[in-house]
Order: sequence, then structure tokens, then C-alpha cells
Amino acid sequence: MRAGQPSRTADQNALFRALEARRPAAVRVADDPLAVRFLSPEFRALAKAARLPPVRRLLEAVIDHRWPCARPGVVARTRLIDQLVLGELGTIGQVLILGAGFDTRAWRLPGMDRVRVFELDHPATQAAKQRALRHGTQPAPRVTLVPIVFGADDPGGALVSSGFTAGAPTLVLWEGVTNYLDREAVDATFGLLASMLGSGSLMLFTYVDAGMLDGSADFAGARTTMRAVRRVGEPFTFGFVPAELPGYLAARGFELLSDERVSDAARRFYPAARCPAAPAYYHVAESRKR
Ligand SMILES: C[S@@+](CC[C@H](N)C(=O)[O-])C[C@H]1O[C@@H](n2cnc3c(N)ncnc32)[C@H](O)[C@@H]1O
Repeated sequence: MRAGQPSRTADQNALFRALEARRPAAVRVADDPLAVRFLSPEFRALAKAARLPPVRRLLEAVIDHRWPCARPGVVARTRLIDQLVLGELGTIGQVLILGAGFDTRAWRLPGMDRVRVFELDHPATQAAKQRALRHGTQPAPRVTLVPIVFGADDPGGALVSSGFTAGAPTLVLWEGVTNYLDREAVDATFGLLASMLGSGSLMLFTYVDAGMLDGSADFAGARTTMRAVRRVGEPFTFGFVPAELPGYLAARGFELLSDERVSDAARRFYPAARCPAAPAYYHVAESRKR
């Protein structure tokens, strides 16, 4: 991330969700009506213009040409994680969102108003989120924003002093973040979660296939995406080898329940005739703390 600036990729994700929110309800794959409030001024202008369906379609086509797979990937993973969260909410009392960016689930998903939510993120992104929350979205007292730099700060200490209950069943979301960290920061975060989560806690996280980073696998859209994220100062730096994930998690006290490529999720959510290309290198994993 660029020093002192909110995450550019979080802004892009919010743009993709805001454009999706402009589609007619009958064909919308994910529904995030709040996304538009978090956009930078230039992206907000695009989202405003996209109220006109032909403009929206043109914008989507330009974005999908410039960043192949990225927009449908964000939309499909939002829908997939929304569904997994909704399936878990009845059983837990707290939600921890790591690298929350402009995630609005605490405000928009039914049932989130009955749990405590802790959002950890980089201070610069979180400051931008707080500014946006002051202008429109009602701040929710049950949502605690905890500023943290993964790899430098002590997230465990910050969480406990913010009121997080260690040892309680928790739902953890870690969406769109591991690929921006290094192995030490990823290992440290899994270690922290293993020590702080109650047995039965569910952890949903995304990762990219390590093959896209070392060039051992060729995925549609991968090179363009890697160039684009490098250009905005947020290069992809970490990935898992999918076949190694069950063992990695088992060694840290987690069981892998599911691991789906975002391209496969997109095929389930978009109508077959109109399914756009989504990334096969991007995964959503679901794991349970033993
Ligand atoms: C691509 S955004 C994902 C945001 C959101 N979870 C989503 O899926 O839309 C990456 C997020 O990771 C956060 N992030 C990246 N590196 C970080 C670090 N070293 N410490 C804390 N947060 C970091 C950024 O602030 C940003 O919110």
C-alpha cells in the first residue's frame, strides 16, 4: 500500500460492487447498495454515470477488457462469502473481519445486527472508511474498527483491548488480503487465530494460487492483474499451492471444509449464457477450528 493512502484495491472492489448494485435486481449476482458511499471521487463519478444501463454496460466492458476477470471475480466472491456468512450467523456471537477494506456486511446482511463485529484494517484505509461512515451510513455501535498493520503491529493485543472475546466461537473473514502479505505475516495471522478462536469457529479466507506468482501455472487474466496491482503499489506477494492447503491448515488446528475457485463460483451464480470470465487462480476457502 502507498504510505498514508487508503487501499486502492479496496476502492476498486467497492467500484465493482457499486456497479453490480446498479444492475436490475433480477440479474444482480451480489447486492451491496452501500458500496457507492466508499468510492474515491473519480470512481463515484463512474458509479453515478452507471445509473444509465447503456453507460453501465459500457463501463463493465471497458473494465473487463482492461482488467480481465477482476470485476466478475469480486462480484462472485462477494456472493459466495455472503452466503457462507448467512449460513453461520445463527451460531456465533462475534465476527472478526481482517483487512475489511470497504466490506459492508456488518451493515447490510440480516442477522449481523445481533453479533459484535471487529474490523481490522490498515489505518489509512480505515480512516477513509470512517470518513465515509460519517457521511451517510449510520455508525453501528456493535462494530469496532481496530487499526492495524499486519506484519508490524500486534493484532492480538489490539483485539483484546477492543473487547474481542478470546476463546469464543467466532466467524472470521479474511477476504482479498493474504495475496498482499508475505509468508511470515500469513503464518503469524494463522498462529494468532489458532490461539484466539474458540473451538468450532469458522474461518473464510481467500488466496491466490501460488502458480500465478512463480509462473508455474498459466491462468487467464493473471498477468494483467499482477501488472495492474503492481502499478497501484499493491503487488500480489503470496499464494498457496491448493493441494498443500489441507495440510497447512491441519498443522495449525484447522480443518479445510471447502475450497472453491472463484471461476467455478461464478458459473454457479451467473446465468450460463451470460457468465463472464472470472479468475480460476482466485480461491475462497472455508475452514473450521478444531
Ligand atoms: C483488496 S483490499 C480487500 C478489502 C476487502 N476485504 C474486500 O475484499 O473488498 C485489501 C485490504 O487489505 C488491507 N491491507 C493490505 N495490506 C495490509 C497490511 N499490511 N496491514 C493491514 N491491512 C492491510 C488494505 O487496507 C485493504 O483494506
